[in-house]
Amino acid sequence: MSEIRYDGRVAVVTGAGAGIGREYALELAKRGAKVVVNDLGGARDGSGSGTSAADAVVEEIKNAGGEAVANYDNVATMDGGESIVKTAVDAFGKVDILVNNAGILRDKSFLKMSEAEWDAVIGVHLKGAFCVTQPAVKVMKENNYGRVIFTSSTSGLYGNFGQTNYGAAKLGVVGIMNTLKLEVAKYDIKVNTIAPTAWSRMTEDVIPEAVGKKLQPKFNVPLVLLLCSEECQDSGKTYVMGGGWYGRTAIVSGEGVCLGDAERDIPVEEIRDNFTKIDSLEKTEPLNSGSDIFKYIGPLLA
Ligand code: NAI
Repeated sequence: MSEIRYDGRVAVVTGAGAGIGREYALELAKRGAKVVVNDLGGARDGSGSGTSAADAVVEEIKNAGGEAVANYDNVATMDGGESIVKTAVDAFGKVDILVNNAGILRDKSFLKMSEAEWDAVIGVHLKGAFCVTQPAVKVMKENNYGRVIFTSSTSGLYGNFGQTNYGAAKLGVVGIMNTLKLEVAKYDIKVNTIAPTAWSRMTEDVIPEAVGKKLQPKFNVPLVLLLCSEECQDSGKTYVMGGGWYGRTAIVSGEGVCLGDAERDIPVEEIRDNFTKIDSLEKTEPLNSGSDIFKYIGPLLA
């Protein structure tokens, strides 16, 4: 088995002071990457801040013979994102790998959700993905190389009770990926999304201990590291994982049905009478871009 390494590569991992992000940072450094360990510190709901979490991981990496620097900026602001990328450029000259991992939770059922709870979660996960990725991709483009990871969640991909804010943000990053992958393809920048599962501060009170102990953060590391490697040629894909299980998930398009001729009015009753075909997911495929939908609509336009 040929070893996958990151010698000469510079990686930024956000929210790497704890949980899954810490594991990415440690393994990337172990395999030769120079790592920026970003973490704002603070509580699970995003309140507060501190330097100790990132510092401890940097120390761990250095003690093991690796190279790392800490950064304590907030991913949710443009200044923060730019400063995180500047830390990498100042310390190591570039950014090759970005793992957008930082995250918070403010769970509330939809009808009880406050504007502040909505904004805080969208800010860290969705706006944060923009604020860090844009400056990082600027540097990657200069070097004609990059590997970007967005972190989604089953909450966004499929739904979880009490997490409309988090789910919206977590599916939002898939939206960023879908378009960004097209915009950066010619610079050898690959953009993929993962939805991890792990027993961490974020999930310790929702996953029972017996199950949680088996959902160790480390099991999310190898697939993310493959997506961060030079070997990775995939872009625009989403993978779900946990406990040693790994699989792909995708927004797929059904075959649908052409009812009209692009001129004739189509009454609602005709939709009802064809709804089984419209609703069917029997023959589905993921599309590579929005314009691919015209392969279905196309026959009507010819
Ligand atoms: P965690 O709470 O252990 O770690 C998240 C880290 O992000 C913390 O150290 C925190 O200080 C940092 N952080 C929070 N806001 C920040 C900000 N504005 N700027 C910089 N750093 C910030 O959580 P965990 O479980 O390791 O989660 C990592 C990622 O995986 C998150 O994006 C989370 O939403 C996602 N995820 C986790 C799942 C799980 O089962 N643990 C499931 C699905 C997604």
